[in-house]
Amino acid sequence: MNDAQDHAASIDDPAALAAEAAAAIARLTGVDRHDIGLTLGSGWGKAADVIGETVAVIPAEQVPGFHVSGVPGHSGTLRSIRLASGKHALVIGARTHFYEGRGVRAVVHGVRTAAAAGATTMILTNGAGGIDPAFRAGEPVLISDHLNLTAASPIEGANFVDLTDLYASRLRDLAREAEPALQQGVYVQLPGPHYETPAEIHYLRVIGGQIVGMSTALEAIAARQAGMEVLGLSLITNPAAGMGDPLSHEEVLAEGKAAEPRLAELLSRVVARL
Ligand code: HPA
Repeated sequence: MNDAQDHAASIDDPAALAAEAAAAIARLTGVDRHDIGLTLGSGWGKAADVIGETVAVIPAEQVPGFHVSGVPGHSGTLRSIRLASGKHALVIGARTHFYEGRGVRAVVHGVRTAAAAGATTMILTNGAGGIDPAFRAGEPVLISDHLNLTAASPIEGANFVDLTDLYASRLRDLAREAEPALQQGVYVQLPGPHYETPAEIHYLRVIGGQIVGMSTALEAIAARQAGMEVLGLSLITNPAAGMGDPLSHEEVLAEGKAAEPRLAELLSRVVARL
């Protein structure tokens, strides 16, 4: 096969496309192996500036399978960072959301690429609505488990992956060593892009949801399938629908901006323990 045929073949094979992306990242960053994958959602972006020394920043479109993000406030780069521990983190600043309509393969391509690049830990962060009134806007919350209400899975075929302890209790314990006051909650992923109705939030509370957003669960499943340990963190950007003022994306971004320094500092302390 020539290169073009090889690339055409990988488009229909998610693992091959992730391997191609990982090879491009190694070539463009000069870093052969990344130990930790990091997806930084609303409010978490500043962490990339403080967790370690940036070795390289690559525009997402130079890496096979990545698309430029269509969401304001979400950057479109991949960044290689050397931590004080000597480990390397790959920051995936080009998240594809389920609501973009590119399919689940595109949503989890970043996670699969991190795994193909060598990562054994995946840190997934997001901005989310607080269903549990104990979670206030501006606070980070550890994800303890999830309800995947997208009616989709990143796993194709008869591959029955165990999701017990998906959000690894080992990593949650490490995060709570870094920040003993961190609360934990069950994250609900809905497809979006509309926010929920108050009736839906009531329903989510009844079935055990405490945080609600439009990302993370599908990515966590793909990370587990790839054999990674997952750490999930949400920034509560707003009280969920019907629990406060009407929702706006601008409010979500503004709350994220305000919390950035604190979240960056928290993530620094967490990755130092990995
Ligand atoms: N609902 C869904 N997604 C969100 C929310 C919300 O309230 N806040 C931030 N992302």
